Amino acid sequence: MLIANNLAKSLVGVNAYCAIALYVESLRYSRRGVLDKAWEEICSGVNLSSGSSNAQNNQDVRVSSRVSGLAREESVPYIWSVGGGKGGVGKSLISANFAWILARRGRRVLAIDLDLGGANLHTCLGVNPPKLGIGDWALGKVDHIRQVMVTTKQPGLLHVSGSQDPLEIMNLMVDRCDELVHQLRELDLDDVIIDLGAGTHPLTLNFFNAADSGILSILPEPTSVENAYRFIRALFYQKLMKTDVPKGIHEVIQAAVDTKNVIGLRAPADIFAVVERLDPVAAEILKKAVADFHPKIVINQVRSQVDIDVGKAICSVCRRYFGLQLHYAGYVDYDNSVWRAIRSRRPAVAEFPRSALASRMERLTNTLLGEEKDLYP
Ligand SMILES: Nc1ncnc2c1ncn2[C@@H]1O[C@H](COP(=O)(O)OP(=O)(O)OP(=O)(O)O)[C@@H](O)[C@H]1O
Ligand SMILES: [Mg+2]
Repeated sequence: MLIANNLAKSLVGVNAYCAIALYVESLRYSRRGVLDKAWEEICSGVNLSSGSSNAQNNQDVRVSSRVSGLAREESVPYIWSVGGGKGGVGKSLISANFAWILARRGRRVLAIDLDLGGANLHTCLGVNPPKLGIGDWALGKVDHIRQVMVTTKQPGLLHVSGSQDPLEIMNLMVDRCDELVHQLRELDLDDVIIDLGAGTHPLTLNFFNAADSGILSILPEPTSVENAYRFIRALFYQKLMKTDVPKGIHEVIQAAVDTKNVIGLRAPADIFAVVERLDPVAAEILKKAVADFHPKIVINQVRSQVDIDVGKAICSVCRRYFGLQLHYAGYVDYDNSVWRAIRSRRPAVAEFPRSALASRMERLTNTLLGEEKDLYP
């Protein structure tokens, strides 16, 4: 009943999206009375009370200097992955336009399509399906990823296609994630952008977690927010499961993965508390493994301030109730230039450089590079 009331309340506010995203989880929590209070707070807007309703005006912001200029200084490509947990949320739009802007700014960039089975980044970039792609690398037909890179019409921007590759290579790629990342780091480039597929296939989780920065594209719609939350959760547990800790500790983590677990493991803090008691050394290893887990979120297809504020609400909820710190890197307006650009097989920033979308993508790029402040926190 409480949940029903809270859900009804949430539907009229800014928090509707994050509230619904947490709905499934909260039902489980509330059954045991664990998160009733938290849920009430989410629905009553407490989680937004610390800042202005305009995400851009938030004063509690930090600029990450980690990215800016890093690639050139260290001669190692900086790897970005773009995921979203759901189909059609703008992963390829962001990948293509971000890559194009970086190259136009003089950086040496590779945009690689790992949305196997649904690859279309080449179309967004205006490249005809190349003869060789990531599948040829996965199947061992070529030794190095550089052998399947092709040029694009934007100087400085290279592409590795995932088109014409059989879906079966997804499983092959899971095992070769580390090897591919190693080869990508050997390239004489500044940035590598990985366009991922929808869902939580291990391939997608592996590459999102292996990147230096993970960008999460989310629509201001309950279904997208819900999937994004599941995606974040899956990423987090995958990071923990990959740590070198005793088997028994992995079993604790595995228990937490099951949202119906009866031992009360809900938020990351619960897992750390249990492991701390069992094996303090393992607890330290786990904490270290997720210390840099700060996905950057982008809200795509915004139409109003309420939509923009959804990004802030998601970050706030994740931090408050799950102890996860996300960064709100920016938003992209709903813009007709997107489908018009796709029809011309060019990124919107190239086809319509004066569009609102193009200037928004430029700002998003600035934020991602650490040249402008995140919108939250
Ligand atoms: N900001 C936007 N404004 C208008 N339309 C958009 C915007 N972003 C995306 N779209 C539309 O949504 C469609 C899906 O976008 P995109 O292909 O980038 O999503 P995706 O997450 O990569 O999808 P998939 O999971 O299928 O790969 C686009 O073809 C475009 O028509
Ligand atoms: Mg896509």
